[in-house]
Amino acid sequence: LNGDDPTRSAAPLQSAPVAVVGAGAMGSGIAQVAAQAGHDVLLVDAVAGAAARAQERLRTTLDRLAAKGKISEADAAAAGSRIHVTDSVSGLPPVGLVIEAAVEDLAVKQDLFRQLEQRVPDAVLATNTSSLDTTAIASALQRPERLIGLHFFNPPPLMRLVEVIHGPHNATDAGREILDTASELVRHWGKTPVRCTSTPGFIVNRVARPFYGEAQRMVGAGEIDPATLDLALRNVGFRMGPMELTDLIGQDVNLAVGTSVWEQTDRDPRYEPTQYQRDLVAAGRLGRKTGAGVFEYDDQGVAQNV
Ligand code: NAI
Repeated sequence: LNGDDPTRSAAPLQSAPVAVVGAGAMGSGIAQVAAQAGHDVLLVDAVAGAAARAQERLRTTLDRLAAKGKISEADAAAAGSRIHVTDSVSGLPPVGLVIEAAVEDLAVKQDLFRQLEQRVPDAVLATNTSSLDTTAIASALQRPERLIGLHFFNPPPLMRLVEVIHGPHNATDAGREILDTASELVRHWGKTPVRCTSTPGFIVNRVARPFYGEAQRMVGAGEIDPATLDLALRNVGFRMGPMELTDLIGQDVNLAVGTSVWEQTDRDPRYEPTQYQRDLVAAGRLGRKTGAGVFEYDDQGVAQNV
């Protein structure tokens, strides 16, 4: 496993079944990526029926990709048939890798990994956390070096970056080998793995916090309207403006991440969540997923007032 040829190190994982825990926006997308890369995928969600609904949506997505000519019908059918579901971690068969994409809550993640450590003792355990310290999550485990961060970006099938996150708990030979293996697997999936240490927000969420925050402060103070602000940012090379991007991420998810980074930096004012975003979340305007956030969305998720 430690050979010089990087393609060798991931070989055992490249053909192993993958479990994805949490069948929401991120878990579904990660399941699609793994299934299209040829893995059998077990999608798990604690809410009864949620994983099955995600499976249905993923098959529709794959069929649409085939209808648009982006993948063949055979590949769409094959990837769809590789996605299986279960409503509980206790129902998991042996897998090579688990990627956890449940809620951004340390206690929930620790509890899940405690169960997973028992249930799949040989698997690499990865969390898709956006902001929590992976060493704190791993502290719940008997063999903490098995737990790493694999942080995908929304939407996982399209975004190439995966932050591969490590902390002091990975600083063993076994831990380093797991990081190498996981990085190579992610590369095999067509992604760009970037290693980083488990600092608050890792790379992208740390750098992006002031970007979101400043935009929200300007809009909240009435200095600019959100559509014009996004238009300006889109026209200097940003793919999306901060207002539409936080609607895509989910205002609740983005607020949770921001709060976590702020708390982990001893409440550094640069990262303080804005009243504007708190008000959106309190009003249930969570973004595309609820049909309204900063903007209003139709059934297809197309913004109406941009
Ligand atoms: P989501 O709310 O769309 O989905 C979370 C899913 O996990 C839900 O279906 C929920 O029923 C399920 N769940 C909750 N507790 C569970 C448990 N104990 N066992 C099994 N399933 C459970 O959330 P989303 O956006 O998919 O985020 C998931 C994780 O990914 C969070 O840690 C988040 O910070 C992270 N993340 C989110 C990104 C985003 O843009 N939304 C980007 C990158 C990471």
